[in-house]
Amino acid sequence: MADITTEVLIIGTGPSGSATAALLSTYGIQNMAINRYRWLANTPRAHITNQRAMEVLRDLGREVEDEAYLFATHQELMGENIFCESLAGEEIGRMKSWGNHPLSKAEHLMSSPTLMNDLPQTFMEPLLFKTACSRGTQARMSTEYLSHTQDADGVTTTCRDRLTGKELTIRSKYLIGADGGKSLVAEHAGLPFEGKMGVGGSMNILFRADLSKYVAHRPSVLYWVMQPGADVGGIGMGLVRMVRPWNEWLIVWGYDINGPEPEVTPEFATGVARQLVGDPTLEIELLSASVWTVNNRYATRTNNGRVFCMGDAIHRHPPSNGLGSNTSIQDAFNLAWKLALVLKGQAGEKLLDSYDAERAPIARQIVTRANQSIAEFGPIFESLGMGEGVDPVQMQKNLNARTQGTEAAERQREAIRKAIAFKKYEFDAHGVEMNQRYRSAAVVTDGQIEPAFALDADLHYQPTTWPGARLPHAWLYRRDNGAEVSTLDLCGHGRFTLLTGLGGEAWAEAAAEVAGELGLEIVTHVIGPRQTYIDHSGDWARASEIRDNGCLLVRPDHHVCWRAETLATAPKAELLRVLRAILAR
Ligand code: FDA
Repeated sequence: MADITTEVLIIGTGPSGSATAALLSTYGIQNMAINRYRWLANTPRAHITNQRAMEVLRDLGREVEDEAYLFATHQELMGENIFCESLAGEEIGRMKSWGNHPLSKAEHLMSSPTLMNDLPQTFMEPLLFKTACSRGTQARMSTEYLSHTQDADGVTTTCRDRLTGKELTIRSKYLIGADGGKSLVAEHAGLPFEGKMGVGGSMNILFRADLSKYVAHRPSVLYWVMQPGADVGGIGMGLVRMVRPWNEWLIVWGYDINGPEPEVTPEFATGVARQLVGDPTLEIELLSASVWTVNNRYATRTNNGRVFCMGDAIHRHPPSNGLGSNTSIQDAFNLAWKLALVLKGQAGEKLLDSYDAERAPIARQIVTRANQSIAEFGPIFESLGMGEGVDPVQMQKNLNARTQGTEAAERQREAIRKAIAFKKYEFDAHGVEMNQRYRSAAVVTDGQIEPAFALDADLHYQPTTWPGARLPHAWLYRRDNGAEVSTLDLCGHGRFTLLTGLGGEAWAEAAAEVAGELGLEIVTHVIGPRQTYIDHSGDWARASEIRDNGCLLVRPDHHVCWRAETLATAPKAELLRVLRAILAR
């Protein structure tokens, strides 16, 4: 007999665990989240928060989304990605990043009702955790996961209460390993992995110092510093990262993973800060210093029976592209509604298989992308003549060469421009963030061909209602008060949604009948003139890829799971067929 029972036990209260807890509690599912520490993230760690993650927060409630913006550094202060000799030294180049280039900004604004922002993990985690606990999650801090066993009906997990030293057992229907990059749950569940841990070494130096005079005129989250040694280990180049504008900073500086791990003493940390800022007299208030490794490893299977892993537990990669906590939160959004439906008896257990089918390819994609971004710093070093093996004196000469009026220098300047512009794949890769399309049994395409990407799929988001893709965002207008409402706002909140237009009322009627028959909530919206939501701009008509009397069926995680271009002769039979397939019933 276990000491405690709960429906879902979540190990870890990082972005993935807290998001899962918040979603499950919002969906009315009993859950418990444990953390071996007494509190949440104690350093800022992940910070770039992309639109897709913000859509999850918005789905949790406008108050959750608004609080994120309240504490975040806003998008317009993220924009100048600077490459320099040091903060005080010469600037070598820059690129508008994170949706701040006018063209990219337009794409961002057209793609989502949310805004990218910079929200350090020390703010994101408490927000998600508070949302979870206030909605019903039982949180147990200072409680360490030790092991688990599973059987046909559930999972028994053994933990240690770190305050008393006593062991306790928790019985749950499902166990979630959201326990980070050294996940014991993934190890004990025997998940298979590909790739390597520890492909590079890096250190974090967190400090307070007012650096306004170097940065306020060129606001950015990231200032990349090219100095001898900047290409060793680490994340591609020396980095001075803004944590809070402009008086809290995190330096990321690499070390050779094949050598000894450096001891980051206060003197050493101050020295690195002075060197990268370029001010030998700089005084810093050192907050913390730590070393960590660059990883390149992902799970090729994300669950074993009743045990599901997510977040860093299944994708371990450097912070490049800012994909860490964003993807973790999206893992949660994918799994939580499926667990809820299964636990409520509205879906068969097979629905849960789609988590692996849908998220394992993403794990692989983002780990590969983040590591590739490190390699793509190479051409910048080469164009500056700062490649491997060049001694510091020659490096400075090569760097100076670009200032000449010669043809060779012009070619060098062009090479530098191109190499910097190419970093768009790390600093403005909107497609990587937004283009996730799922292929699984929880999506019914009826053989419709996936639309090819017209532009680079890493750089540009391409909206489509092809089943498996995220529902495109378009602003609709409320008939009663004229307020703007996103198509995404009509969906989500743990429920399926059917969207149709004038002439498609039979879909809505059929959905109500099917919902009754399956004991499932399906929200329906008929969009059009004199309806509750009106497409005054025509943006929805252009994005929907169906006729007015067709329909889109949207999953609780905003992904389209089925569409009909026009009204079917037997709408109810069609919806029953599709939902039975998706829900494994
Ligand atoms: P996360 O690691 O956040 O949380 C794991 C949770 O499990 C914690 O609550 C932990 O206490 C708990 N836990 C672990 N083992 C346990 C056990 N046995 N029992 C109980 N609880 C246990 N990403 C990014 O996008 N940009 C960035 O700049 C950075 N920077 C960065 C710096 C450093 C030093 C690290 C370590 C990581 C980053 N990251 C990052 C990565 C980012 O922080 C990461 O992707 C997310 O935190 C992943 O969220 P998870 O919830 O999956 O794991």
